[in-house]
Amino acid sequence: MRIDVFTLVPHAFASLTEQRPLATVLGSELDLRLHSYRDTTPLRAGQVDDEPYGGGAGMVLRVDVVAAALDAVYGGAPPARVVALSPQGRQLTQEVVEDLARESHVALLSARFEGFDERIVAHLCTDEVSIGPYVLSNGDLPAMVVLDAIARRLPGALAEGSGELESFSVSLGGGLEYPHYTRPPEFRGWMVPDVLLSGDHGRIEAWRRDRVR
Ligand SMILES: C[S@@+](CC[C@H](N)C(=O)[O-])C[C@H]1O[C@@H](n2cnc3c(N)ncnc32)[C@H](O)[C@@H]1O
Repeated sequence: MRIDVFTLVPHAFASLTEQRPLATVLGSELDLRLHSYRDTTPLRAGQVDDEPYGGGAGMVLRVDVVAAALDAVYGGAPPARVVALSPQGRQLTQEVVEDLARESHVALLSARFEGFDERIVAHLCTDEVSIGPYVLSNGDLPAMVVLDAIARRLPGALAEGSGELESFSVSLGGGLEYPHYTRPPEFRGWMVPDVLLSGDHGRIEAWRRDRVR
């Protein structure tokens, strides 16, 4: 799968690319390309934003700047999914992640300041996605959230089987995963449930099933 990220700060993604699971699939299952709007802006001095029509505080990411960035990379043939990260977007869920992870090529667009000129969302994007009902300073963290969530769905990203029985997965009926425990079996009087130490796989399965929320 190829994912292009359009941002003002490509190096912000460095820490993510050094960590698993993204690092595991990078260069094999995942072709990640980071693009700066400033590299292709048609404006002077690397300008990418402008004052809002109608007045008000803050700057708005310009439509001609984003169009130039997309044209430079795609030459007029963008991928099937071009996603604007924005608080106004459809809320990110595991379903949205699975949907995007099925694509062979996705573009993620990050903004900052006051956000996108609305014509970017209306005419240059296919999707508008929010990572939650709160406002962050820019779309880089949201893009990283989407990237990480997609990367762990790609073949080879996770240890065999560990992605199957997860919260929100089909195997758990879309529910939340059961609790986990590890050694020691007792700590400060806090006990691991007896059933998990019993070695009885049938009872363990039943106990876990009962705790899926
Ligand atoms: C400071 S925010 C803009 C907030 C906008 N003026 C508003 O009130 O909705 C700048 C950028 O950060 C990104 N962003 C902030 N919060 C987000 C969220 N919850 N989900 C996705 N992107 C977000 C978007 O790219 C947004 O355009």
